[in-house]
Amino acid sequence: MAILITGGAGYIGSHTCVELLEAGYEVVVVDNLSNSSEVSINRVTGITKKSFAFYEMDLLDREGLDKVFTKHSIDAVIHLAGLKAVGESVRMPLSYYHTNIMSTLVLCEVMKEHNVHKLVFSSSATVYGLPEQVPIVEDSSLGATNPYGRTKLMLEQILQDLAESNERWGISILRYFNPVGAHQSGQIGENPNGIPNNLMPYISQVAVGKLAQVNVFGNDYPTIDGTGVRDYIHVVDLAKGHLRALEKQLDISGVHIYNLGTGRGYSVLEMITAFESVTGQSVPYRIVERRPGDIGLCYADTAKANMELGWFATRSIEEMCQDTWRWQRLNPNGYEGEKIHHLLTN
Ligand code: UFG
Repeated sequence: MAILITGGAGYIGSHTCVELLEAGYEVVVVDNLSNSSEVSINRVTGITKKSFAFYEMDLLDREGLDKVFTKHSIDAVIHLAGLKAVGESVRMPLSYYHTNIMSTLVLCEVMKEHNVHKLVFSSSATVYGLPEQVPIVEDSSLGATNPYGRTKLMLEQILQDLAESNERWGISILRYFNPVGAHQSGQIGENPNGIPNNLMPYISQVAVGKLAQVNVFGNDYPTIDGTGVRDYIHVVDLAKGHLRALEKQLDISGVHIYNLGTGRGYSVLEMITAFESVTGQSVPYRIVERRPGDIGLCYADTAKANMELGWFATRSIEEMCQDTWRWQRLNPNGYEGEKIHHLLTN
């Protein structure tokens, strides 16, 4: 069975490729490498000892995408490609709406033309906006607070409309909480451009000596120690969630929405302490102003994914820190500077 993974060279994509290949699926990756590296494709091949097709291509290239569907008999699509930085989306809303919305429309149109109706879509807990209550259940009220989040929310609505138009569509919408960690091999992981926006890569770059200290954005939230609480989920657990969603929806139709988190929240200071104790590295920090747009408390109710998908996040906070650190230590500059070996079909 052949699965197209858009954004398959990225952080979540590369880990999802590993899980799918290890489960015996044929994998086809389309990625424009705008925020990812072809090195990750080589590394996935190294981990799994399996090669797969990789196309450096933008999803807005309809003709190119059409050729991919003609060449490979695709059974289902996992759509991860898109722009994802909240701050950047505020500065460049047109770029975010154009890229995220248009590429998904082109993808769905080409899927429809080729009679492919099974889709797993990467959404985000950001669609809950300021949560009314925690843990957050899937039918909580929605309301994104920035252009990036609104692209996810709009796409969720577009996909609902699509599924209602024809019962052949089977669509899983996965709302990720905070993905962290890396593959236990240390070969693939998160590779942010420039200074990281997110907490975990920031902590690990402080620990490795690239950055001086963590700026903790506020300590006056109504949380255990006043710092922001999030539901951090190991990226390998998240990748396995895609596999479970894919397997489930091959036989069902309609739209199915799942939170992918652990159901447990950790504060910024708890994350720093956990990282220090697991790695033995010191992580200096200072408290600064709140980051505009941040919320205090966000963690998932995961019962729906547990029950309907039979999926559970099993990796602990210690494993998240350990695996992040292994990746960071082995790859202090991420994928930068590594030559690509063109082992792959194209
Ligand atoms: N934080 C710091 N210092 C930093 C970075 C983050 O104190 O340098 C804090 C934040 O204030 C927050 C927590 O660490 O309390 C987590 O912040 P992240 O930036 O790692 O993650 P967010 O929860 O803000 O954002 C993530 C994704 C978004 C997504 C959002 C909601 O990055 O894409 O979750 O699901 F929209």
